[in-house]
Parts: sequence; C-alpha cells; structure tokens
Amino acid sequence: MSLKRFGVSLEEGILTELDQMVERENFPNRSRAISYLVKKNIVEQKWSGDEQVAGAVVVVYDHSKMELHKEVNAIQHNYNCLILSGQHIHLDEHNCLEVITVRGKAHKLIRLASKYKGLKGIKNVELVMSGTDD
Ligand code: NI
Repeated sequence: MSLKRFGVSLEEGILTELDQMVERENFPNRSRAISYLVKKNIVEQKWSGDEQVAGAVVVVYDHSKMELHKEVNAIQHNYNCLILSGQHIHLDEHNCLEVITVRGKAHKLIRLASKYKGLKGIKNVELVMSGTDD
C-alpha cells in the first residue's frame, strides 16, 4: 500500500498527548500512531454495522460458584458458530480466566459478550475486536 504525505495541525496539548502515546505504546513514529487511531475508529464504527470482525472475549469469574461455571460453558455451546477456540486458565484457588477467540458479525460478538456481562458473579468481561482488512 502506497503512503501519502499530508500536513496535520494539532493543538499543542494534543500533540504532547500524541508524543506521549508514541513513546508509551512504542510506535516507531507519529504517523504510525495516527494510522492506528484512524483504523481503530473505523473498526469501532463497523461494530454497529454488519461487518465481519475477529477478536476475543476475556472473562474472569469465580469457579467455586458452580452455577456460574455451568452458565459460562452453556453460552459457549449456544454461540459455537461464532467461537473459534477457548482457553481456560486457573488463575488461583478461586478465579478462572477464559479467553474465547471469536469471529463473526460485530453486533453478534457484542451480543455474545453481553451474555457474559449479564451473568451474576462474573468479575470482568472484555471484548476485543479487530477488522481483518488493511
Ligand atoms: Ni479454573
């Protein structure tokens, strides 16, 4: 893909924030950071639409709550058409981490993640989605 050069004018405070972001997140330069932000914004816009995206649902819960363990499992069976793989990690005596890789239409992945968010006793649910185009 060919690169195009253009001028950008930013308020000083925003430029400082951009430079801090470049350093903090190890971008090689400002251009890559801006490109990342634009792509991220495009993906987020696609979320509300019918676009195909891939990502992961990360769930943390207490396995000693037996019903919760069953419900977490049942959701994965109900949404198997969206799920590519699942990984279960026993974090400590009580806590489990599930990393469920997913692919499908964005609004369906959001609905899948919301099923976990709706379970009583779930400690955290994060959905990460990425477009697959350049
Ligand atoms: Ni576990």
